[in-house]
Amino acid sequence: MSDFAPFKALVHQRCGLHLEGLAEARLFRAVASLQASTGLTDTTALLKQLTSDPALFDRFVSQLTVNETYFCREPEALNWLVSTYLPERLATQKPPLSIFSAGCSSGEEPYSLAMMLFERFGEQAKTLFTLTGGDLDHQILAKARHAVYGGMAFRALSPAFKERYFSPYQGRYKLHESLRQWVTFRPFNLLNANENSPGGPFDVILFRNVSIYFDKQTRHHIHQQLSQLLAPNGILLCGVTETLGNDLGVFELVEAQGIFYFRRAEQPAAVPTDHSHVVALCATPDDNSEGDSASKELASSTDLATNAPSEQAMQNTQTDSIIQQLQTAHRLLNQNAFDDAAKLLAALLKQQPWSIDALVLAGLVARWQQLPQLAYDYFKRATYVAPECWPAHFYLAELYRQGELSDEPSQRRQRYAAVVRLLTSTPTSAGGLETITSPLPPGDARFLAERYLEAANLTLASTSTTQGVD
Ligand SMILES: C[S@@+](CC[C@H](N)C(=O)[O-])C[C@H]1O[C@@H](n2cnc3c(N)ncnc32)[C@H](O)[C@@H]1O
Repeated sequence: MSDFAPFKALVHQRCGLHLEGLAEARLFRAVASLQASTGLTDTTALLKQLTSDPALFDRFVSQLTVNETYFCREPEALNWLVSTYLPERLATQKPPLSIFSAGCSSGEEPYSLAMMLFERFGEQAKTLFTLTGGDLDHQILAKARHAVYGGMAFRALSPAFKERYFSPYQGRYKLHESLRQWVTFRPFNLLNANENSPGGPFDVILFRNVSIYFDKQTRHHIHQQLSQLLAPNGILLCGVTETLGNDLGVFELVEAQGIFYFRRAEQPAAVPTDHSHVVALCATPDDNSEGDSASKELASSTDLATNAPSEQAMQNTQTDSIIQQLQTAHRLLNQNAFDDAAKLLAALLKQQPWSIDALVLAGLVARWQQLPQLAYDYFKRATYVAPECWPAHFYLAELYRQGELSDEPSQRRQRYAAVVRLLTSTPTSAGGLETITSPLPPGDARFLAERYLEAANLTLASTSTTQGVD
């Protein structure tokens, strides 16, 4: 038994997190930083301190959680909730209806709903719905309450929403106060719904992109906890790739309009089956239904063939070193100055068509501008030039998984498998990037790729079983 085994056991027992495989690297770092901050190197003394000091344990756990999230993630379920399910419920039930984001991370999920409900119901939304977010990680909850976001958080949010609900704030964007105050954030442990209870019973619980961190037995226990928080006719929504792994017999799995959700067994159908009710309030990345000319402008302004760099960008191209330009493009990207970043990168790629850094950055810019085909072209080129470029493989798979491109399951699996293979042989590989660092650290990328591969293989197995029966 290694020195780390008791730490793994403690975290698993208290939080459910399964720290095997790649997540071990995260644990090693967290223990090292714990040793540095407490001055205790002896495992027994360190464990004793950790067990008896809740604040220390919270800081430790903050280093172990994966907080990846963004606005309007998996928008189909959110659109269905806001345009179909919740209006139906309001027709038969007295408001307010209560919605809980379990494992809300930095708040993008409940705030996305706040924006969408505000779009649909106007100011009245605040009296019709309560919004609560809960998370184990105290540090991430502080970020959620602050509601200041940059770069990646906006990658799936339409520019119109961003403009309407955020104001520039110290180089990033702050959510408008009235929406910020609408959402309540609470410390919450999925393993124990009674301790630090987030309130309830809730009419809707979102439990999305959280269950992948738990083993089956823990997921089962979590369902029982969530069942205590769910109103008798409430529903539980999991992430798209998680639904099968969460069909554990505690709740009944139901499909309505292509959306899967769980409810207590033997509930009457809660929603109509008329597809025309679903309105895309939160646009999917390839959805032009908002008709907003801004996104069309973006599309044309970033077309590689037509996008002539500005005079200023040309001058910079001549005077700055390649490294400085890449750093500038990276900074522009993080400040959401997508047009400027795209122009600079287009100029740079004319001089350096095989620069991995420029190709990956250009792919990320295109993705955040909701130009998935262009993003695909850049990432694909990066993998041709540098087959070891795991960030490009990862983002190619993400384009499929998140529905930004029509899904090609075998392509998606191959790309995630490439990430796992590359990062298994060289765990800290920069993936061919020389100047910038990947927005997703290699440890997180491998961890997520492994989980998504597992989920994809589960789906594949279940499809072939079903086909076999048929
Ligand atoms: C990947 S984020 C998902 C955020 C959001 N639901 C989404 O779909 O984008 C997973 C979150 O689950 C939280 N989490 C992990 N274990 C938890 C537990 N036992 N109780 C509550 N939250 C937990 C993590 O801290 C992290 O913020």
